[in-house]
Amino acid sequence: MNISYFNGYYLPHGEICISPDDRGFLFAEGVYEVARWYGKQFLGIESHTERLKRSLREMKIDWPEADNYPSLAHELIIRNRMAGKQALVYLQVTRGSAARTHSFPSPPVNPTVYAFAKEKKTGNRDNETGIGILMTEDIRWSRCDIKSISLLANTMGFQEALDKNMQECLFVRDGVMTECSHSNIFFVRDNIIYTHPESKYILSGVTRKIIIKTAREIGMIVKEEPVRADDLHKFREVFIGSTSFEITPVTGIDGVQIGNGVPGPVTRLIMSGFEAVLIPLKG
Ligand code: PDD
Repeated sequence: MNISYFNGYYLPHGEICISPDDRGFLFAEGVYEVARWYGKQFLGIESHTERLKRSLREMKIDWPEADNYPSLAHELIIRNRMAGKQALVYLQVTRGSAARTHSFPSPPVNPTVYAFAKEKKTGNRDNETGIGILMTEDIRWSRCDIKSISLLANTMGFQEALDKNMQECLFVRDGVMTECSHSNIFFVRDNIIYTHPESKYILSGVTRKIIIKTAREIGMIVKEEPVRADDLHKFREVFIGSTSFEITPVTGIDGVQIGNGVPGPVTRLIMSGFEAVLIPLKG
C-alpha cells in the first residue's frame, strides 16, 4: 500500500481526507513542487526547497517546516521502498481550511500539507526520437514564476496537445515563446542556445538551471533572451527540460518540422552532459 504524507503523519494513501473547506480546493490557493529521485539521491533538492520557500512567501502562506521538505521527501521514498528505483515526489501546501470567504483566515489556520511518492517508469523513447508540440496562446496569469497549484490553463493546453497527437504545449505571450505547460524550452541557432529569461512569465525550472550550467561548462553560449514565434524558422534545434521530461528533443511544432526532424547535435551534447550530472545520483 502506498504511504503518503498528510499534515505531519505518514498514512496509507486511502486514509487521507481533505476538508471541503480547504482553500486549495475552493480557491486553488496553494503551491507545489515535484522532485525526482534517481535511486540514490534527489536531483537539485536544494533548488526545489528554495523555490518552494519563495512560492510560499509570494503567496503569503506560512509553513514553518519548509526546510524539512528534503527529509520528508526522502522518508516517503524509504517508506514506499523506492530506494534503488526512480521516483517522483509531489508536495503541495495550501493555505489551510476555513469557512469560505475571499479574505485570508484571521487568525491564520495551519496550512494543509500533502505529499506522495510515485515510481517513475524509465526508458521513454521520446528522448531518442523527439516529440511534436503544439503552440497555443499563453492565457495564464502574470505570476507564472510562482509554482501555484492553479494550473487550469496548463492542463487545458496540455490536453489540447494530446488530443492533437502532440506531447506538450508551448505558450506564446505577446508573440514571445515563453515556456511549455510543464517544462521550459530552449532554441538553438548557430550553436547558441536561447531560452526565455527568468521573469514573471516563466517558472524558474530546476532543470533549466542545470541545463544552463551544464551547457556553459562545456563551452556553449547560452543567451537568456526572449525568442519570438515569428523567428522560429531561424532555429535548427529545439528541446524542452523539466523534472519529468528531463531533456526531450522537440522535432516538430504545430506539425512543422524543426531542423532535420531528428534530435540535433547540440541537443545530444546537452543530453549527455545532463546524463553525466545524474551518474552520482543513481543507485
Ligand atoms: N513542472 N515550467 C512549468 C510551467 C512547469 O510546471 C515546470 C515543472 C517547469 C520545469 O521545472 P523543473 O525543471 O523544476 O521541473 C517549467 C512539474 C514537473 C510538474 O508540474 O509536474
